[in-house]
Amino acid sequence: MTDNKNSKKVYIGMSADLIHQGHLNIIAEGCKLGKVIIGLLTDEAIASYKRLPLIAFDERKVIVENLKGVEKVVPQTTLDYVPNLKEIKPDYVVHGDDWKTGIQREVRQQVIDALAEWGGELVEPKYTEGISSTDLITAVKAQGITPGKRMKTLRRLINVKPIVRILEAHNGLTGLIVEKTSIEKDGRKIEFDGIWESSLTDSTAKGKPDTELVDFSSRFSTIEEILEVTTKPMIVDGDTGGRIDHFKFRVKTLERLGVSAIIIEDKVGDKRNSLFGTTVPQQQDSIEHFSQKIHEGKQSQVTTDFMIVARVESLILKKGMDDALKRAEAYIAAGADGIMIHSKEKDGKEIIEFCEKFQSFEMKVPLVVVPSTYAHMTESDLQALGVNVIIYANHLLRSAYPSMINAARSILENSRSKEASDQYCMSIKDIITLIPEVN
Ligand code: SPV
Ligand code: MG
Repeated sequence: MTDNKNSKKVYIGMSADLIHQGHLNIIAEGCKLGKVIIGLLTDEAIASYKRLPLIAFDERKVIVENLKGVEKVVPQTTLDYVPNLKEIKPDYVVHGDDWKTGIQREVRQQVIDALAEWGGELVEPKYTEGISSTDLITAVKAQGITPGKRMKTLRRLINVKPIVRILEAHNGLTGLIVEKTSIEKDGRKIEFDGIWESSLTDSTAKGKPDTELVDFSSRFSTIEEILEVTTKPMIVDGDTGGRIDHFKFRVKTLERLGVSAIIIEDKVGDKRNSLFGTTVPQQQDSIEHFSQKIHEGKQSQVTTDFMIVARVESLILKKGMDDALKRAEAYIAAGADGIMIHSKEKDGKEIIEFCEKFQSFEMKVPLVVVPSTYAHMTESDLQALGVNVIIYANHLLRSAYPSMINAARSILENSRSKEASDQYCMSIKDIITLIPEVN
């Protein structure tokens, strides 16, 4: 029996983001059957169906390798076990019996079918009740996050997710919406990966134009307000970045707060919102000066995690595709960690052309787009074009405003609030409990 057992191979797939007794129970069950090989889900595999793990793969690997009874750890690069199973041909796969229903049902069936090819067996010990990784992670997240950890998350997301999805926030409440809103689609949890602190919506929410009139002292206060109630990474809209000597300070301040990236646009002088296009006078910076700004900003960074993304305004200012591409190349050479290409065309054609040409660059960095006008393009369309980050730049403010106007008008029309309350408002009970007193 012992000899026989020692020659048997037992495969256990797990994420092991936060180890608890459930994991240890499964490993102990596996040990009774043979030598335990852990198929540790990579960060990409986990992010493909729920969220970025708290602990990165290399660190999880070291932890799991040192658990009692683990013989070997191999990466499992997809949620699907089959590629690893076909290579290892284990005698047993061990998994808690909780996957018989729900999103993992199909994965389980594929495991059974694959094992049948060489007479392997699926063993399903009873799921350990009263403990769940998801609950533990929610509890950890409720404690908040350190600036350093938050800052690093954007680079991690860009590395492991095919597309990073960012939504605008302009105060604590909208920050919470970006943080907490999620849906389930095809068995996967879909949510936003991070926050865009937009100059347009921050200014508009204060009743001010988007012309850098809301200065960075005020922007920092909005940024902190959002950071205080969220844990997801933040990208700050840095407008033009201002004077180079000021920009260097700004970079350090944002790093200290735990912001992940600043995007600065290659304009000078009186900044107007890009969506005006050429209907208002706007001046583009010289390639040399803007490259210098990027270079000095990078030099002033304290960490290697923070990102400075250069935003190319050539298409907005009708300077042509060649100018946009030339500038993107120059900004990358100056040290930009990413390129944001902006366009206000509705059909998306110039974005498609830029993205295609961008792919032939020798030096490549993550590509960021803001599909406000070419809003018909889906995330998979943009992903197929090689886009890494999508910013939904203004949608919470744009959706809230019409609703507020309707409520205000309704009170005026009816000389009372009943109709507004019934049609446009959440209940009093819901509003007073929307933000829990104790987290
Ligand atoms: C913002 O959100 O402030 C931006 C993006 O800069 S845009 O408004 O499209 O210029
Ligand atoms: Mg802006």
